[in-house]
Amino acid sequence: MGAPLYGVIGNPIGHSRSPAIHRAFAEQTDIALQYDALLAPLDGFEATVAGFRAAGGRGLNVTVPFKAQAYALCGVRTPRAERAGAVNTLIFPANPGGLVEGDNTDGAGLLADLHRLGVPLNGRRILLLGAGGATRGVLEPLLAAHPAELFIANRSPDKAQALAQDFLALAQPGQLRAGGFADIPPAPFDLIINATAASLAGEQLPLPRAILTPATLAYDMAYGATPTVFLRWAESFGAQTADGLGMLVEQAAESFWRWHSIRPETEPVLRSLRETLQSR
Ligand code: ATR
Repeated sequence: MGAPLYGVIGNPIGHSRSPAIHRAFAEQTDIALQYDALLAPLDGFEATVAGFRAAGGRGLNVTVPFKAQAYALCGVRTPRAERAGAVNTLIFPANPGGLVEGDNTDGAGLLADLHRLGVPLNGRRILLLGAGGATRGVLEPLLAAHPAELFIANRSPDKAQALAQDFLALAQPGQLRAGGFADIPPAPFDLIINATAASLAGEQLPLPRAILTPATLAYDMAYGATPTVFLRWAESFGAQTADGLGMLVEQAAESFWRWHSIRPETEPVLRSLRETLQSR
């Protein structure tokens, strides 16, 4: 029998770093496994998952654009996946008739990365940019860290407001607010997280300069060989910056823990991933 089978499923999937990350974790923890990248046709997510499971697959990471479909496919979900409305980690029971479990490790990944960076959240002012799936996935753990204020700003203000409404029950009175970019209170924030897809398109967001100080951390969930437009903008006003490569590695570590009950060390894997990214 070969090593237990894991993988990441998405479309496109060619540039996914997940195979490199999980193979590095496996080597570090001495766990035998095979981890592959699976390209699913846009209309063939379920069939690809079924084929992988029939071949003995034990777990899948799920990426764009299938996180909502993965959520729908699960027989049971963790509370954090329920609240995120999306699943990025599928756990297949050994029994072929058993229920598929869905989890979402994105929020935990962001929090672990902020912890690694030494960013305090308790009592701080946080600005969250975007109101899509990425934002939904991190709202609960951010609120649980007790920021003084969390403002969600989005290009479409109604989407930000609807999202805030969904999470109001988890917030203290006055703690969670939302609006368009023009509604952002023009005062310094401690942490600004870009969860929009604007970085991927190389576009600048219409943000007031007054939200930055040299103590502000501008965090972009996107990453690349060079800083994103958002990070360059923040840097030009002297703010601190971090990209989302750490979040990627930390969410992978959380998935690894769910599958193998071992927490790998993330720092060396992040370091080598950064080197690979910058040497291209
Ligand atoms: P994800 O799952 O990555 O969050 P999504 O659900 O499609 O993806 O959400 C994308 C987010 O990026 C949305 O908040 C979107 O704003 P709208 O709700 O107004 O569409 C935001 N976004 C995408 N391109 C953008 C751009 N060029 N400028 C500003 N916001 C952008």
